[in-house]
Formats: sequence, structure tokens, C-alpha cells
Amino acid sequence: MKLNFIVNEKKVELEVSPEKRLIDILRKDLDLTGTKEGCAEGECGACTVIIDKKAVHSCLVHAITLQGKEVLTIEGLDKNGELDIIQKYFLEEIAIQCGYCTTGMIMSTKALLYENKNPNDEEIKIALSGNICRCSGYVQIISAVKKSAKAIRGEV
Ligand code: FES
Repeated sequence: MKLNFIVNEKKVELEVSPEKRLIDILRKDLDLTGTKEGCAEGECGACTVIIDKKAVHSCLVHAITLQGKEVLTIEGLDKNGELDIIQKYFLEEIAIQCGYCTTGMIMSTKALLYENKNPNDEEIKIALSGNICRCSGYVQIISAVKKSAKAIRGEV
């Protein structure tokens, strides 16, 4: 099939099989390797990207569903070489250990903060419940999300 969609604000046209997974399109066809593959079955969240402002597991999304959609990956977050506020706070709060889950955590946070700029701890935990950190860095991750939200609200 001919797939036309938008990735990180750029139009993309590709010839792909309808069942090709989004994570493979990103990593293999578009060389966007910031999105990681963990479980490959929708459990770990390492592969999280944003489609039309919602966080999704790219290992579960197939090309046939992507026509005309807008995909945002970790590579699309920085603006003119400057990190997104969420990336800055993940670094500042040391919300990163091995780093494998980080891309997914940041993308889920981005999607959460599109909808809710003042999430409480419970709302953050629910929004990140599809993302597993094997190093148990959740305290710092929640702190990074809260500080990002505060910055987005213009309170810091
Ligand atoms: Fe997609 Fe684990 S690799 S959820």
C-alpha cells in the first residue's frame, strides 16, 4: 500500500505492507531509532509514540491504520536543537537510569500534558501505567512530570 502520513511535522510517503508495524516503519524505514522495542506485545511501553495527540504503543499499530495520521516521536520534540521541557526535567530530576524506558515515559508524559496541565500523582501514575521502568525510577519520574507540568503552566 502507499502510505501517506506525517511524522514529526514532515509529510512522509512510503510503499509498505498494510500489516507492517509502526515501530518498524519508524526504526527501519525512517531511521528514527529513538523509539525502542521491548516486549513487542503492548505491555512495556518502551515503544510509545504519539498519534494525533494520544500516546500509543507503536508495536501494536499497523500501517493500514496510519493513513493521514500525525505521528510524533522523541526525535520530533526538540525545537531548533533545544530539548523539550519534559526532556529537560527528566534530565534535571535524574529520572533516567538505564534509559531504555525513557523515550516511552517522555512520550506518555507529553500526551498527558496535552490533556491535563496540572495532573496529580494519581493521574500521573495512571497516564504512565503502560510504561514500565525496570530500574524502579518512579519517584524521580513522577517528580519530573510534575515539574514539567509546572513549567508548562508558566509557574517556574
Ligand atoms: Fe511495544 Fe513493549 S515494545 S509495548
